[in-house]
Amino acid sequence: MKVLIVGSGGREHAIATSVKKSPRVDKIYCAPGNGGIAGVAECVDIGAMEFDKLADFAEQNKIDLTIIGMDDPLVGGIVDEFEKRNLRVFGPRKNAAIIEGSKAFSKDLMKKYGIPTAEYENFTDAQKALEYLDTKQAPIVVKASGLALGKGVLICNTIDEAKDAVRSIMIDKQFGDAGNEIVIEEFLTGREVSVLCYCDGTNIKPMTSAQDHKRAKDGDQGLNTGGMGTFSPSPFYTEEIEKFCDEKVFAPTMAAMKKEGRDFVGILFVGLILTENGPKVLEYNARFGDPEAQVVLPRMKNDIIEVMEACIDGKLDTIDLQFEDNAAVCVVLASDGYPLSYEKGKEITGLDAFDGKDDYFVFHAGTKKEGDKILTNGGRVLGVTALGKTLKEARANAYKATEWVNFSNKYMRNDIGKALDEV
Ligand code: AMP
Ligand code: GLY
Repeated sequence: MKVLIVGSGGREHAIATSVKKSPRVDKIYCAPGNGGIAGVAECVDIGAMEFDKLADFAEQNKIDLTIIGMDDPLVGGIVDEFEKRNLRVFGPRKNAAIIEGSKAFSKDLMKKYGIPTAEYENFTDAQKALEYLDTKQAPIVVKASGLALGKGVLICNTIDEAKDAVRSIMIDKQFGDAGNEIVIEEFLTGREVSVLCYCDGTNIKPMTSAQDHKRAKDGDQGLNTGGMGTFSPSPFYTEEIEKFCDEKVFAPTMAAMKKEGRDFVGILFVGLILTENGPKVLEYNARFGDPEAQVVLPRMKNDIIEVMEACIDGKLDTIDLQFEDNAAVCVVLASDGYPLSYEKGKEITGLDAFDGKDDYFVFHAGTKKEGDKILTNGGRVLGVTALGKTLKEARANAYKATEWVNFSNKYMRNDIGKALDEV
């Protein structure tokens, strides 16, 4: 069968790598793809938001399945466009992707259906938000409701800071229209865990857990980024917590979306925080995490195509989802200066060290191919992933592998998964 993947980051490279393992697949395309994805798929020069062109391409090339990796096209309704043309596509429709596209929607959904989350209020009026803050205490969290590349969440240590956040999001439009509505919510503390789940509209099957490191610098300092590294599984996601989440979060979320007439088919990413008062949902995403996919997918035993087709066909209950009894760590190699300003176009060397090694992966996030050279082309450049019997071993392997590749402004965190030494 022929598969088209929509997206261009490390997540899509990890998806393409899993798809390539399926014996049912003989051709993979990726639009627009990147320099590394070009090693496993034929890259097609169509942007992820060019729905008509993508659907034309799928029709003309008789694509059997299109997988949408990114949030923007999902929230924008790409799945509905493909379905209108009777094209088979994996991902939630627009009316379900709103669970990621509007934090205000997802908070109201959780409140209505009793799914544990932080206390909050939504606002479309800046003045009302400022008045509300006068009744609250810091620390407090101000969030742009719409998509903001993972940067629309401001943790404020004083009420004045929170007021500035409201002004910059709602009046100065720091995140554009994503800030037309905001959520102000209670600040929670605890370990964060991401659980990505396959969903068929009725059934939900959680994958193995993972943890991201969102801040740019060691010790969780510096600015928020798209994610500087991940590990899987999370030792903090115990069987007891898993059981709680199955019963109180995952199943109720699926049922709630169905009840609302918004059947969710695709990947539901549940961002959890494990507080003293139990797990609470921080956010939902409507797609694989990046770089969570880079540690979860290499550990999955199933044929990804079979699982995705079962989701589309409403038969996820027939799938026995299985993961290897091992661990994975992904260290992101970024361009120095990310997430603010950084240089691009640097030559990357040493990539061939990964060839033929089953337990090591170099997923390309921001690269491009020029002649036979691979150049840096973004803030997050590569995701170096290694497997190991234990998290400690996977971590040592991943850091060893970061030394194999070089580019002149290479930057990484040195403490991905370090907290694991405590457990
Ligand atoms: P979100 O995109 O909503 O997951 O937020 C991004 C990050 O901000 C999360 O991964 C947390 O680290 C942090 N965050 C979000 N909401 C809260 C909250 N209510 N309390 C504490 N930290 C939060
Ligand atoms: N790594 C966080 C995300 O993909 O949203």
